[in-house]
This record gives sequence, structure tokens and C-alpha cells, in this order.
Amino acid sequence: MPMLKRIASITALLTVAATSFLASSQETVRLGTPISESQLANFDLIAQPNGNGLPAGSGTARQGKAVYDARCAACHAANGEGISAATIIVGGDMQSEGEPLRTVGSYWPEASTVFDFVRRAMPADAPKSLSDDEVYQVVAYVLFLNGIIGEDQELNASTLPRVEMPNADGFIDQSAIH
Ligand code: HEC
Repeated sequence: MPMLKRIASITALLTVAATSFLASSQETVRLGTPISESQLANFDLIAQPNGNGLPAGSGTARQGKAVYDARCAACHAANGEGISAATIIVGGDMQSEGEPLRTVGSYWPEASTVFDFVRRAMPADAPKSLSDDEVYQVVAYVLFLNGIIGEDQELNASTLPRVEMPNADGFIDQSAIH
């Protein structure tokens, strides 16, 4: 076979192979089903310190007491004192000479972190079962129990990032170092 013709036929063969590979891969690859907007919203939960990602809604501690008593107190006790070391969410001290007790009040630097965590992970026996209003309410109540906000102070997407957490300056930002 002359050289040129040979190359042409090899190319043709490759083209046929590629085409049939593409065709069969289109037929055989069936990975999962398309995800709907509402299903996606269930995972779109990141609330940032600058307020990005905080949903619509609002709540006060006064409203949040009912949510807390019904959905949180079984594990975090009536006033956040906890039923185990891991479930203490009120009080604490980062200045103690012994082991510091880290809680929402003593340790967490941003209120948005409390919101984010509660919305995605709490109550531990039924995560994501609270409405956004209920999350605002119960977060307000946890902050109120820690003496950080008043009972009638309204939390919403614009007020929550402005809450000053006691340990806000207790962290070193290393993001610029790396
Ligand atoms: C079934 C038990 C249970 C219920 C109900 C529950 N929690 Fe929790 N919660 C836990 C446990 C256990 C942890 C510790 C998780 C860990 O350390 O990873 C925790 C951790 C937390 C933390 C982080 C504490 C920290 O400093 O690390 C917060 C805040 C919190 N819960 C808030 C809530 C709120 C608000 C509710 C009600 C809406 C709630 N929890 C309901 C069991 C529960």
C-alpha cells in the first residue's frame, strides 16, 4: 500500500473508532439524575462573617426560647449548661490557667458561624429541620444566654454580622501567610 493511502486509511479507522466510542459513551454513561433547584438549596448553606449566604428571615431571643426549649434543651440543658462536655454552649473562659472551656460565648469569633452551624447541623437528632426564622430565633436565644445580645434584639441578614463576639480578636488570621 502506498504510504499516503495507508495513513489515510489509518486515520479513517481512528475516526470510526473515536466516533463509535463517543456514541457508546453517550449511551452508557448514566450517572445519577439531574438535581433540582430546591434540592440544591438544601446544600447551599454557607453563611459567612461578611453576611454573604445569610437567608431572609429574622428572630429575637424572646421568640427563640420556645424553639430552644422544644428542640435543643434535651441535649444542651435548660440554660445551655449542657449534659456532657461537648454540649456546653454557654459560659466558659478562654483566660483560665487550666484547660479553657470553649463555648459559643467564650470561643466562637463570629455570630455567622453559630448561624451556619445550627442551620446545617442542629438539632443533632434532626439536622436542617428548622426554618430559617427558627434558626435566627434560636441563635438569638443562644447569644442572649451568653449575655452577648439583648432579649429583644432582632437578628436578620444585616444585623447578625454586626454582633460583636467576645473572642473575635482571639484568632490569628493566617490566610495571608500561605
Ligand atoms: C440530640 C442532641 C442534640 C440536640 C437536640 C441539639 N444538639 Fe446541639 N449539639 C449536640 C452535640 C452532641 C454537640 C457537639 C457536637 C460536636 O462536638 O461535634 C452539639 C453542638 C452544638 C453547638 C456547638 C457547640 C460548640 O461549642 O462546639 C451548638 C451551637 C449547638 N449544638 C446548638 C444547638 C441548638 C441551637 C439546638 C436546637 C435547635 C441543638 N444544638 C440541639 C447535640 C444536640
